[in-house]
This record gives sequence, C-alpha cells and structure tokens, in this order.
Amino acid sequence: VFDVSSLNKKMGLFTYDPGFMSTASCKSAITYIDGEKGVLLYRGYPIDQLAEKCTFLEVAYLLMNGELGDKHEQAQFEHEIGQHAMLHEAMRGFIDGFHYDAHPMAMMVGIVGSLSAFYHSELNMDDPEHRRISAMRMLAKMPVIAAACYRHSIGYPYVYPRSDLSYCENFLNMMFSLPSQKYIDKDNYIDPVAVKALNLLFILHADHEQNASTSTVRLASSTGANPYACIAAGIAALWGPAHGGANEAVLSMLGEIGTVDRIPEYIEKAKDKNDPFRLMGFGHRVYKNFDPRATIIRKACYEVLERTSAKDPMFDLALALEEYALKDEYFIEKKLYPNVDFYSGIIYKALNIPVDMFTVMFTIARTAGWVSHWLEMMAEPGQRIGRPRQIYTGKDVRNV
Ligand code: ACO
Repeated sequence: VFDVSSLNKKMGLFTYDPGFMSTASCKSAITYIDGEKGVLLYRGYPIDQLAEKCTFLEVAYLLMNGELGDKHEQAQFEHEIGQHAMLHEAMRGFIDGFHYDAHPMAMMVGIVGSLSAFYHSELNMDDPEHRRISAMRMLAKMPVIAAACYRHSIGYPYVYPRSDLSYCENFLNMMFSLPSQKYIDKDNYIDPVAVKALNLLFILHADHEQNASTSTVRLASSTGANPYACIAAGIAALWGPAHGGANEAVLSMLGEIGTVDRIPEYIEKAKDKNDPFRLMGFGHRVYKNFDPRATIIRKACYEVLERTSAKDPMFDLALALEEYALKDEYFIEKKLYPNVDFYSGIIYKALNIPVDMFTVMFTIARTAGWVSHWLEMMAEPGQRIGRPRQIYTGKDVRNV
C-alpha cells in the first residue's frame, strides 16, 4: 500500500526550505551582508564609502573584476562601455512593435531577451573574453533600452547614446532631451545634482547577493542558456512588487494614504492578517535591524529635494509614516524597517522619472550585479545545473 508520505520516503532525505530562508545556493566572493548589524559590502568595501566616493561605473568595474580599477583601467572600461552602447538599428522595429501604453518592464523583458537573437553568432561561452564582452554589452545597452522604452511610451523619437557623456549623463540625455535640443535643459547642460543622485541610486541598487532576481539569473544560467535570455529572466523576477516593483508600489501607497492623519488607518491595515495590504518599502528578508541603503537614501532625499528646490509633500508623508511605524509594537516585534525602496522613488520623482520607470531604473543598476554573478559562476569549474527538489503532496499511485 502506497501513501504520499511513503512516496516521499522513497525519495530519500531532503531539506524543506520554502523561500530558501536558510539555504545557500552557491559560493560567491562579490557581496557580503550582515542582516543583524545592517552591514553591506561590495568586494569588501562598505556601501557608504562606495556611495560617497565612487561613480556607478567604478562600482560596476569593482563588482565585475573584484578590485577597483586604476585610472587607466577605469578609462578603458568606460571607453568600452561607450562603444557597446549603440543598439542594432533593427531593434527599433522590435521596440516600435509594442503598444504605446505597455508597461516599460514588460518591454524590458522582451527587448533584453531579444538581444539573444541579435548577438549570438560569435558567442562562445567557454571563452572568458566572449563572456566578458557579453557582460559589457548588457551593462552598456541597458540604459539605452530603458530610455528607448520611455521615449516610445510618450511618442518621442529615440536619442542615440553619445560618447562624450558619462553613463548617467547619457541616460538623462536619452530620456529627456527634446527632439530639437542638443542637451536636456535650456542652459545647454545636464543637471549635476541629477547626475550625482542617479550615480548614488545606481550604486545602492547594484548588487545584493542572492536576491530573487540574481538567483533567477544564476538558475537560468546554470543550464548554459544564452546570457541575454538569462538577464531577461532576472528582469522578470525583479518586476514583482515584493522585489524591485516595491519602489513603484511605495509611491502608489503614499498617494493612496494622501495625508498624515490617515497614517494610523494604514498602519492598522498592514497589521491586519485578514487584509493583504502590507506597508510597501518596509521589511526585508535579510536586514532585521536596518537597511544601510535606506539610511543613505533618506539623507540623499533631503539633499536632492533641497538642491532641486522640489519640495515634495510625499517625502514629509514618508518621514511621518516611518516615524509612526517604528514606534508601533507590531513593526518593532517583527523587525520591520524601511528598506532601500522606501525612499528611492521620492528621489526618482524629484528627477522627473515617471513612476512606471522606477523598476526600470532598478534594472539598469542591478545589471551590474547580474552580470558579475554570471561571470563568477561561468568561470567556476564543474558547474552543475540548479535543480531543487520538492516534497510531493499529490495523489497516491492509482490506475487509469
Ligand atoms: N507590512 C506589514 N507586515 C509585514 C511586512 C510589511 N511590509 N513585511 C513583513 N510583514 C510581516 C508578515 O506579515 C509576517 O508576519 P507573520 O509573522 O505574522 O506571518 C512577518 O512580517 C514576516 O514577513 P515575511 O513575509 O515572512 O518575510 P519575508 O522575509 O518572507 O519577506 C519582504 C520580506 C518580501 C520584503 C516583506 O517584508 C514585504 O513584503 N515587504 C513589502 C514589500 C517590499 O518592500 N519589498 C522590497 C524588498 S527590498 C528589495 O527587493 C529591493
């Protein structure tokens, strides 16, 4: 006589760890997190030092190569990124095929996936140089694809990347320059406050060890699949509101709350187990004390709003909500603190980035982490396919 438990016994002993709460899926030398102490290191460097002293491309070089580049190495890296930025002209037709109101993350999944159809013939995954070029290509093209998605949604012509602008300047130029303008604003120059803020946000979002999207990239890559398709899989995982979609969800939530006097009502909703509502931008799988990125972003919010003179009532509302939640027994007991996405949307809003592009911004930044993990795992000898097991809960054996 069979029963389900005896079927499972026949399979041997497994650890059952839904959500992978305590399972390490790989070894990695890229990022270290101590969730209790609120520590985040990229290649051993504390996140606050990198945020203060580096540009996003310096951090991307560090993540991919293990060390900060010297002046010459960094210049060469940035020159190469510039060379790989252009999209194949035929990709325009692909982008144009999307309906104008498609969510930009839906477009990103499709367009990045389509890179596997445009760049494949020369790809030899066994050759480290080929792998490096694929990684560079993805990092270089991501902001160009992202800006093209935005321009498509508002019916503006695409803007080509320029070799005389930095990574973040280029992105802002491709997003916002008017068809008749050479640069994005009337003074013929790109706002350095916006460039600094963008560098900061991209650095903070660049990597976070085995989060859902990075694990997705690794799992897809473990089959030997095309790298562009693997990154597209990572973008799909990032889109969800429990992951990268949270920054968009935070702004919708703040819009819904509207005024400070309604905060208690929403705190009660978040605590009510019969209500699916959660306080977006609060809580984290690993950080159980505070998210060091949230602390840096909160400070940057003050600076950006002050320097762009863009007083935003949503920031005041967010500060009030944080203060209220942090005094509440439920949030204290469950160790729920603001995460990186609680404040990032407010900065993006001040930079005129539309709300549905917030997760796309995260995508650009996290590409640095995804390609670094991909390079790391592809370089490991004896790579095995990722293949979790399950506890079977279906029918016993029966006859048709
Ligand atoms: N609001 C209210 N209650 C919450 C929240 C929240 N934001 N987050 C967690 N809880 C509660 C849960 O209901 C659960 O309560 P229970 O023990 O009574 O069942 C407890 O805290 C633990 O929560 P889990 O969902 O089990 O924690 P997990 O580690 O699986 O989830 C997550 C972490 C997904 C981030 C969760 O806190 C959440 O949904 N937060 C809101 C979405 C968000 O901000 N996501 C961005 C994450 S950061 C990033 O991806 C960049």
